[in-house]
Amino acid sequence: MPAEGVQLRPKSEILTFEEIIRLANLFARLGVTKIRLTGGEPLIRKDMEHLVFELHKIDGIKTLAITTNGLLLPKKLQALKTAGISVFNISLDTLRKDRFREITLRDGFDIVIKAIQMTLDAGYDPVKINCVVQKGVNEDELLDFVEWTHHRSIDVRFIEYMPFGGNGWDDSQFLPYQSMLTHIQEAYPTLERRNDDPNHTSKSWRVPGYKGSLGFISSMSQNFCGTCNRLRLTADGNLRVCLFGANEVSLRDALRARATDAELMSLVEGAIHRKKASHAGMYEISKTVDRPMILIGG
Ligand SMILES: C[S@@+](CC[C@H](N)C(=O)[O-])C[C@H]1O[C@@H](n2cnc3c(N)ncnc32)[C@H](O)[C@@H]1O
Repeated sequence: MPAEGVQLRPKSEILTFEEIIRLANLFARLGVTKIRLTGGEPLIRKDMEHLVFELHKIDGIKTLAITTNGLLLPKKLQALKTAGISVFNISLDTLRKDRFREITLRDGFDIVIKAIQMTLDAGYDPVKINCVVQKGVNEDELLDFVEWTHHRSIDVRFIEYMPFGGNGWDDSQFLPYQSMLTHIQEAYPTLERRNDDPNHTSKSWRVPGYKGSLGFISSMSQNFCGTCNRLRLTADGNLRVCLFGANEVSLRDALRARATDAELMSLVEGAIHRKKASHAGMYEISKTVDRPMILIGG
């Protein structure tokens, strides 16, 4: 989120739960099996567990995931579990309380750590931790995060720092996957590669004997566009077929103009067919003005 914040949208511009559920049903008919709720911060949306419950009922949806900053999770975990969330990704870029405040501009470290422990205790295995690695910010904590997976069912996902509107990206802060890996392998020479899922976005590794695992999301230095099958629907109802592609199609406007299911599905299929084979490379992306990450969702 840009330090200066973002302009909040009037509620009328945001998809209602009914609209989200109608679209989710159409996506399921088109073959989508997994839905991730992200943001912004998904848990600040009132009654999120009701949306989860409705999405859980859709035929064909096998996995419901949430990416959250964890601050409201202690209060909402049980309701979300009951409603059907099967995967939690919790964002945590540092294991140091003082640094947490510097990075996130707020207190809350203890709450996030508590949320992670509660999620483990609730039986989620693994709990996924999203850690964006930045040179000069938290690169010195890579080994601490690896050690954190020793006795916990935690999958730490080290994410390359990506450019988005308002985040002032330049390559002086950028630490590529290969450098992270080399640094970790120097300390853990037996680090072993694990099999990746067919539509993986992360390269998976593990220290032998450790309960948890590591993943690397190398969107910038080694793109995985060939295996990425994700679609993104923004809160204001735009479909994005690529995290880095600024071309969006408004499904909200079509819905509100009373489009039929067939018309909506043809809009989705058209956008997918226009999807590029891969993104344009990290320096090109960094020049493109785009939504801030808070308005896309990661
Ligand atoms: C935009 S957040 C939204 C969900 C939720 N508010 C959260 O904090 O997890 C989704 C994910 O994107 C990641 N992210 C945000 N900015 C990023 C950047 N510039 N490069 C790479 N990942 C980023 C965050 O760390 C987070 O794990």
